[in-house]
Amino acid sequence: MSLSKDLVLEVRGVSKSYTSGGKVFEVLKDINFVVGREYITILGPSGCGKSTLLRIIAGVEKPDKGEVVFNIGGKARIGFVFQFPTLLPWMTVLGNVTLPLIAAGVPKNDAVERARRALKIVGLEELDDFYPSELSGGMKQRVNIARALAVEPDILLMDEPFSNLDPLTAENLRSEVLDIWSSSILPIKSVIMVTHNVEEAVLMSDKIIILSPRPARIVKVVDVNIPRPRTRKMTEVQELVDRVYEYVS
Ligand SMILES: Nc1ncnc2c1ncn2[C@@H]1O[C@H](COP(=O)(O)OP(=O)(O)OP(=O)(O)O)[C@@H](O)[C@H]1O
Ligand SMILES: [Mg+2]
Repeated sequence: MSLSKDLVLEVRGVSKSYTSGGKVFEVLKDINFVVGREYITILGPSGCGKSTLLRIIAGVEKPDKGEVVFNIGGKARIGFVFQFPTLLPWMTVLGNVTLPLIAAGVPKNDAVERARRALKIVGLEELDDFYPSELSGGMKQRVNIARALAVEPDILLMDEPFSNLDPLTAENLRSEVLDIWSSSILPIKSVIMVTHNVEEAVLMSDKIIILSPRPARIVKVVDVNIPRPRTRKMTEVQELVDRVYEYVS
């Protein structure tokens, strides 16, 4: 099948089960969706399989059935902000952001330059030499995002990137991520972000994929046709939040 040029990736018939203590747990059941040049959120209840789906898209886990097809022309570069990321405590901020690049075979000087650029994008250029223990929670999450941006990804995957932050820090970081996404300073074609926050999904994304409780199936795909910048006070935002709540409850 030929793929349209606006299509970035396609998740085709993905199913996944885990076996634990002799029991089979079905986690994902026949998941199908397409991703264009857009910001997508995946919304679903705790434990339904969101992180599993993101890991399968990233290629770090294999589905039992189905496949993820990329339409990038070459190997897709993927940046991943993990749900529970860890920074190496004995390495500086710059070291932590440089490490995955060096592991991927980028020459040292180039890796350092890209890491510095990514840290600048997230507003941490002054903190290169700091150690993780010297950073606030919000700063650590900026480093995690910088680490994903430094690979100059085609596709940015983020697993609940704002969940563990206080509301004000989360709010600031959300708008910075949207600025990075819309500014085209990086060649990111698509963002796929996992969240359990309905309002966040409506405020940030172009399309919301709503999953059922485990085993996750797609309950509904909601297009968000609300002009940006969006605020929670906008009537369209409030109405869509209410509508999405009906699908998740
Ligand atoms: N490596 C694994 N081995 C066995 N079971 C697993 C593994 N990874 C995930 N699971 C199970 O798969 C289910 C889905 O897990 P997953 O982490 O994908 O959910 P989630 O939607 O991201 O949850 P949360 O919202 O709490 O982050 C859970 O029941 C979990 O116990
Ligand atoms: Mg998860």
